[in-house]
Amino acid sequence: MSRKTMKRILVTGATGQIGSELTMELRKKYDGDNVVAAGHKRKPSEKLLESGPFEYVDITSKGNIEKVVKEYDIDTIYHLAAVLSATGEENPQLAWNVNINGLYNVLEVAREHDIRVFWPSSIAVFGPEAPRINTPQDTILIPRTIYGVTKVAGELLCNYYFTRFGLDVRSVRYPGIISSETPPGGGTTDYAVEIFYEAIRNRHYTCFVREDTVLPMMYMPDCINAALKLMEADSSQIKHRTSYNVNAMSFSAGELAAEIRKYIPEFKCEYEPDFRQKIADSWPMSIDDSVARREWGWNPKYDLASMTRDMIEKLKKRFAEGNF
Ligand SMILES: NC(=O)c1ccc[n+]([C@@H]2O[C@H](COP(=O)([O-])OP(=O)(O)OC[C@H]3O[C@@H](n4cnc5c(N)ncnc54)[C@H](O)[C@@H]3O)[C@@H](O)[C@H]2O)c1
Repeated sequence: MSRKTMKRILVTGATGQIGSELTMELRKKYDGDNVVAAGHKRKPSEKLLESGPFEYVDITSKGNIEKVVKEYDIDTIYHLAAVLSATGEENPQLAWNVNINGLYNVLEVAREHDIRVFWPSSIAVFGPEAPRINTPQDTILIPRTIYGVTKVAGELLCNYYFTRFGLDVRSVRYPGIISSETPPGGGTTDYAVEIFYEAIRNRHYTCFVREDTVLPMMYMPDCINAALKLMEADSSQIKHRTSYNVNAMSFSAGELAAEIRKYIPEFKCEYEPDFRQKIADSWPMSIDDSVARREWGWNPKYDLASMTRDMIEKLKKRFAEGNF
């Protein structure tokens, strides 16, 4: 295959919640050897190590990124390395350094080596001034978290690299991601994953947001599909080079607990809001993603009922196999 048709992909943040599953999907699609997983500090899983190349990359070092890009002749980067919202509030300086300087390094290497980039933004770009119900694609962006600030700045930087240098960079604003493979890494929506583990393990969970807290969420298969579908779209379809709203489902913490109780009737959930409640209260409750649907055919598959059924099935199986 020629360099033009063959995909050589680098995934940063490959040991994270999304990266660990996206890497495996990309390896299925493009062959293990063509997808380089890049981690940082955290030990990679056996699955990740055995299915293709693995490298340690500190995203704050442009030299680190460039070395791997040259060695593997990379033409596409899925840039997932980041510090998330809750961890970011505990260390804003680190969040700025990793999220902004990391993205800048990726974009610069991409510009110099003619590489396409996928980079996820987040619903954290919205602040209390934006409409909280059916939040539109284009609206006021005044986030209150450092994480949100880095995502707004990142979106503008991506748009700048597209308009100024013609760099093919694409992005979606993910809502909270729910998955059963790798635990989430310090976000405000982590409760929507932890609740499943605790419901199955202990029949009890203490949730760190109020029962009536409603946030937009997405199940991992849709999350992966959003990235793949956006990257496969023809360039002419991508009219927004900041980032696209993508929605799947919205529910309150109480509604999630009630859905889990359909499978585990004795499950008890208590609510003890902490500092993350304030972050959740500044974010949208639901997202208008009609622009993504229209421009590149975004169409999620999972809702609260089908996601819950699948999560419980997968986690119960893993518990039964002692695979934790
Ligand atoms: N998970 C969600 O709910 C969610 C929602 C919206 C957006 N996103 C975005 O999706 C992307 C991936 O998120 P995730 O949930 O997989 O996060 P995660 O925390 O699970 O993984 C992020 C990874 O980044 C790596 N990292 C941190 N500092 C680094 C550095 N200096 N150099 C290289 N790597 C470093 C960490 O090792 C970690 O594996 C992020 O950009 C995040 O903002 C995630």
